[in-house]
Amino acid sequence: MTIKCFSIARNLDMNGDCIGAIQPACWNGELKMPKTEKPSKTAELVAAARASHTRTAKPPIFADEYAEHLCGPIWRTIISSKFLTWLVVKVKLHVVQPIVMAVFVRARFCEDLVEEAIDSSVNQYVILGAGYDSFAMRRADLKNKVTVFELDQFATQKSKLERMAKHGIAKPDNAVYVGADLNVDDMFECLNQHGFDSSKPAVFAWFGVTYYLKRDSVVSTLQQISSTCSPGSSVLFDFQFNPFSTPKDWRHIQSKMIEFVAKKGEPMITRFKPENVEKFVQDCGYANVEVLLPKDINNKYLSNREDKLSFPPIFGLCNARIGWLMIVNSASTFSISNECEWRTYINRTTLFQTWQHSKNQEKSESTLFRF
Ligand SMILES: C[S@@+](CC[C@H](N)C(=O)[O-])C[C@H]1O[C@@H](n2cnc3c(N)ncnc32)[C@H](O)[C@@H]1O
Repeated sequence: MTIKCFSIARNLDMNGDCIGAIQPACWNGELKMPKTEKPSKTAELVAAARASHTRTAKPPIFADEYAEHLCGPIWRTIISSKFLTWLVVKVKLHVVQPIVMAVFVRARFCEDLVEEAIDSSVNQYVILGAGYDSFAMRRADLKNKVTVFELDQFATQKSKLERMAKHGIAKPDNAVYVGADLNVDDMFECLNQHGFDSSKPAVFAWFGVTYYLKRDSVVSTLQQISSTCSPGSSVLFDFQFNPFSTPKDWRHIQSKMIEFVAKKGEPMITRFKPENVEKFVQDCGYANVEVLLPKDINNKYLSNREDKLSFPPIFGLCNARIGWLMIVNSASTFSISNECEWRTYINRTTLFQTWQHSKNQEKSESTLFRF
């Protein structure tokens, strides 16, 4: 399948968010959509970045001792040699190297919050676009507390399982592999077929993925989660800034990154104005939305580092929680309100249906609140 690329200005919606395929101005031609029958190259790149960071950073922001095994032979050779690492990272990939910090920080952000969720009895962890994620391997201590659903396209998943087998890494007992394409498949149909229970809370991680999806897929994925999952569930994800929100001195780097991954067959097609993200996510059905921007991220994760590493100002992080819903009804005829004097706490879908029903049948004014 091919899509046409347009200039940046023609791809902004009313809010200034990017809504389609935007690429550097030099790319006004046709761009190949990802070939999903091949394992993701960007997933391998981030695994290689984690492996190299684990070896060299002092201290690592995020240590992933399995990442090296999950890389292919070329990356393993590069990572095991200081000279080759220098050559590839500092010379060949020097233009995109500053953005790599985002990979480690988002992983730290994610796993800190996942651990908090598990501590508060959430026992389903869904990793959307899992790539070569190794949480289930690294955190064997949590295997009786959480089921880890790893969703990705078949080819990437197959490659990961083959590499695990090759290195004698056993499939963790609590890991469930769900092959699916988020642009095409029904996510919950796929998850439910693999034992996911949407009546129980879950934490979803969705890192390094939103910018590769169509905007409609981002919206529908967020909406599906909020309308299907229990209150107390949350989604953690990162998003990319549209170029007008990126500091001028970083636009060149962002443009190079976009060009680099597109050449790997995985074009980045969706970006946001950071100030719109909170409302955008709330409108997708989330009660509590915390958006972390680069300044907050630097303060939280990177202050006091001797190496002065900083987070690239082209990404943001988001923690969106599905809240409980409250219905307040001034008409006493509204049956569910009676259960606890004008208020009732039930799951979102039931509440919404009841609210609609009440409006149609009783002509009463009901107000729906999220909290
Ligand atoms: C940059 S990698 C990130 C991998 C992992 N989340 C991480 O941070 O290491 C992007 C991942 O998203 C997956 N992905 C991209 N488009 C997808 C889609 N339409 N459906 C399912 N997975 C997708 C790719 O296969 C790849 O594993």
